[in-house]
Amino acid sequence: MLHQVYQFGLRPLLLSLDPELSHQVAIEFCRRISNSSSLRSIVHKFCAYEDPRLHQKLWGIDFPNPVGLAAGFDKDAIAVGAWSSLGFGFAEVGTITAQPQPGNPKPRLFRLPNDRAVLNRMGFNNHGAEAISIELKADLDRHPLSSPLGINLGKSKITPLEDAWKDYASSFKLLRELGDYFVVNVSSPNTPGLRDLQNTQQLAAILAAIQTENIEHKPILVKIAPDLHNDDVIQVVNTCISHQVAGMIATNTTISRDRLTTKILPVTGNPLSEEAGGISGKPLSNRSTEVIRLIWQATNGKLPIIGVGGIFSADDAWDKITAGASLIQIYTGLIYQGPFVVPQILKGLVQKLDRHGLNDISQAVGIKG
Ligand SMILES: Cc1cc2nc3c(=O)[nH]c(=O)nc-3n(C[C@H](O)[C@H](O)[C@H](O)COP(=O)(O)O)c2cc1C
Repeated sequence: MLHQVYQFGLRPLLLSLDPELSHQVAIEFCRRISNSSSLRSIVHKFCAYEDPRLHQKLWGIDFPNPVGLAAGFDKDAIAVGAWSSLGFGFAEVGTITAQPQPGNPKPRLFRLPNDRAVLNRMGFNNHGAEAISIELKADLDRHPLSSPLGINLGKSKITPLEDAWKDYASSFKLLRELGDYFVVNVSSPNTPGLRDLQNTQQLAAILAAIQTENIEHKPILVKIAPDLHNDDVIQVVNTCISHQVAGMIATNTTISRDRLTTKILPVTGNPLSEEAGGISGKPLSNRSTEVIRLIWQATNGKLPIIGVGGIFSADDAWDKITAGASLIQIYTGLIYQGPFVVPQILKGLVQKLDRHGLNDISQAVGIKG
């Protein structure tokens, strides 16, 4: 019933609004769910899909299912209690920067429905690590979470690239007790120069600074760009391994416009090739799976991967998992399909396990790697 209300009422309404306004409405709904135990249990009844075969233990953490919320949806960590009710097996908040910052000028978020894609150049708009750590701690003290929380960290725009390591380390210090895993985001195209931090020297400095502060040995992951050459992906992975990184997230949005059929951005009338920002959704799907497979092969499946990019269905999720992703995340699929996409994917994954005669999801990881 709730599915129908969403499909025929809320979904068309949300898709008719300006994309950023629609996101604000959605996140406000989620914040209310997060703050009310009765709403959480109602939503859980309609959205959650539980099956022990989807459970996995990674880095000593229990993941009730492999489908997570990708970074960028809950940038300020204001709705952390909602995500497991909506069926997610984990959620990643952020990107959070050391300094609060407003992000880029609007408009900065655009739907490209003919491509099942989104263009965004949000620019890490967030309340900053200190304010977020205070609110999040209070929230978690009120109601502890029933599924893992990842915290994604980025560089403040005003911090020079050579001081990036200080920025990441100070955010990590403020937030380190609050997350189950942490992500060093060096792959957003919307902070000038950020992707240059994927080079060995800069990345090594950031990881060393974080690991020095990592007194509880929390898993540190690195999120990479899909636009790196394959050799550079391997180089990033090697740097990560030599700094005890626990896993990789593949991938962030792409700066490529090659796979788009939409040529002009209707809102501005400019060619998409001239519009700044990263593309997510379907056009990213194949490259993101390729990067997952590359990392899986290069590490003989020893470094856990979170796969993200263009997942809209159980088939898409299965492609990523069988290429080598232990966990997956979605964002653009949620924009177009709404929250019921999560239980749909989970049900579909269980059917696939049955069809392939597998006992649990971890047995599917990398079988086509
Ligand atoms: C509007 C928007 C904002 C995003 N913000 C962030 C962010 O702050 N940090 C980050 O690491 N990734 C961010 N992403 C990237 C997603 O986490 C994900 O890597 C990418 O969108 C590919 O997944 P998808 O095709 O399922 O959307 C953002 C994506 C979108 C669409």
